[in-house]
Amino acid sequence: METVVSGIRSTGRLHLGNYFGAVRNFVKMQHEHRCFFFIADYHSLTTHPAPSDLHAGVRQIMIEYLACGLDPEAATLYIQSDLPETAELYLFLNMNAYMGELERCTSFKEKIRSQPDNINGGLLTYPVLMAADILIHHATKVPVGKDQEQHLEMTRTFGTRFNRIYKVQYFPEPYAFNFGTELVKVPGLDGSGKMGKSEGEGNAIFLGEDPELIRKKVMRAVTDSGPVQPGQPRPEAIQNLFSLMHLVSSPDTIAHFDGQYNACTIKYGEMKKQLAEDMISFTEPFRTKIKELSSDGDYIRKVILLGAEKARSSASKTIKEVREIIGFRKF
Ligand code: TYM
Repeated sequence: METVVSGIRSTGRLHLGNYFGAVRNFVKMQHEHRCFFFIADYHSLTTHPAPSDLHAGVRQIMIEYLACGLDPEAATLYIQSDLPETAELYLFLNMNAYMGELERCTSFKEKIRSQPDNINGGLLTYPVLMAADILIHHATKVPVGKDQEQHLEMTRTFGTRFNRIYKVQYFPEPYAFNFGTELVKVPGLDGSGKMGKSEGEGNAIFLGEDPELIRKKVMRAVTDSGPVQPGQPRPEAIQNLFSLMHLVSSPDTIAHFDGQYNACTIKYGEMKKQLAEDMISFTEPFRTKIKELSSDGDYIRKVILLGAEKARSSASKTIKEVREIIGFRKF
């Protein structure tokens, strides 16, 4: 049995990228390993959410975790800020994280471009906080999408550096995990890149999305004028639509549109209509469960209290040991 840790930022709702890149694997791993799945509300502070939005975002992700099939008895489901030990480990690890390596991190460089008016210290040390989340429970496996791979590499760097500085074999090396060999990157609907909540509202399909909105978003997805020669390579935007189909449609449907593309007879309008209907069917059980859980405040509260208690018993042991290793002593 291995220890597994992963989290999702608390800003908003789960989209298909979160599901296929991360949460689907949480569900599969929860009965086989010692699992900790949390809601990263400290991390979401980098974008300065309003206090009421912060709270609502956390609650909503917890509801959606449960709607996806996460079992609070099997796994430890908790809120990051219920574990202040994480913040203490973050402080310790920050002392050994160097400016150069933090500035070179791809996600930091992207943030400099996307939010030039708010390049704060939390963004720079974002990977250190992630390392604290993972190392606090001594995790070895971290189910995440492709975009988190570099953060995992940095986590290994910070953990092994701590071991070297203090001449201990304390933190294990955690690796990004997916059941297939490759980490997943689910594309968005805007013709390039990945599905994400910061990439614009129309780019992502959420698990709790209203069917009519799914139809609208998918019909607006970027396409082109269609292939003119058989065997022509697929432009990125078109390949993205096929990749999304691979996630939600049947093999027959995919083969049908593949055949039409190759024969240059494809009508993208029809393909998108089909993709939207398949997304609606795929998300139906999540929508129903999310609605059901939304009104069950007592249950959500119980889950959150249980998670905090289980997570703290693991984290407080780590912090006690780390303090001793560093040299803090009682007087
Ligand atoms: P976040 O909230 O951006 O995304 C949560 C998880 O969803 C995955 N993901 C995707 N996977 C495939 N295709 C996509 N289009 C896609 N979009 C998102 C992400 O890879 C991630 O696994 N920093 C993290 C949260 C975090 C964390 C951690 C994760 C904080 N501490 C410790 C693991 C371990 C984040 O912002 O994820």
